[in-house]
Amino acid sequence: MKSFPLSKVYQLLEPGPVVLLTTAHKGRANVMAMSWHMMVDFEPPLIACIVSNRDHSFAALRTTKECVIAIPAVELADMVVAIGNCSGRDVDKFSAFHLTPQKAEHVSAPLVAECFANIECRVVDTRFVNRYCLFMLEGVKAWINAKQKDPKTIHHQGFGRFVVDGETIQLKSKMP
Ligand SMILES: Cc1cc2nc3c(=O)[nH]c(=O)nc-3n(C[C@H](O)[C@H](O)[C@H](O)COP(=O)(O)O)c2cc1C
Repeated sequence: MKSFPLSKVYQLLEPGPVVLLTTAHKGRANVMAMSWHMMVDFEPPLIACIVSNRDHSFAALRTTKECVIAIPAVELADMVVAIGNCSGRDVDKFSAFHLTPQKAEHVSAPLVAECFANIECRVVDTRFVNRYCLFMLEGVKAWINAKQKDPKTIHHQGFGRFVVDGETIQLKSKMP
């Protein structure tokens, strides 16, 4: 075993998939890339995620307490990285990246039609926002685009490196 820098531990554990997080604030929709998220409970689905207070999305999420987690397949990878490398402060990303916003059922943030899944979420706990920029989200409605068959997700390993979802294996398990 060789020593591994603590600063790179996230590259070992980062679960992915890389997702898009949309918000709508003051009549304007925005979208960012996000890979620091984790499942916390099954149903209703609880999802913890880190949205940095340097991101334009931060204020929108904290104020409106609503967002959509949109899950892109590998074909959108270049665009996802580009979305994560510019800010809604300067760019209308839906327009710049030709993304199709679709009206959500329960939240003001839009779904992303190009993604194979969308989860409408509400912020249900903000206790760790000031300390860690950690938002606890509850999924209130989920959508799947059945036309996208066998979508492959992308998983971030840092600095432009991604692992693409691979072979599926089915094992006996009592875990849901
Ligand atoms: C692959 C990838 C993953 C990212 N994951 C996160 C994340 O989990 N949390 C975060 O705050 N920013 C993350 N970012 C950075 C934001 O997407 C980036 O700061 C973006 O410009 C924020 O957009 P906004 O200013 O319009 O909100 C990621 C960027 C990339 C490319």
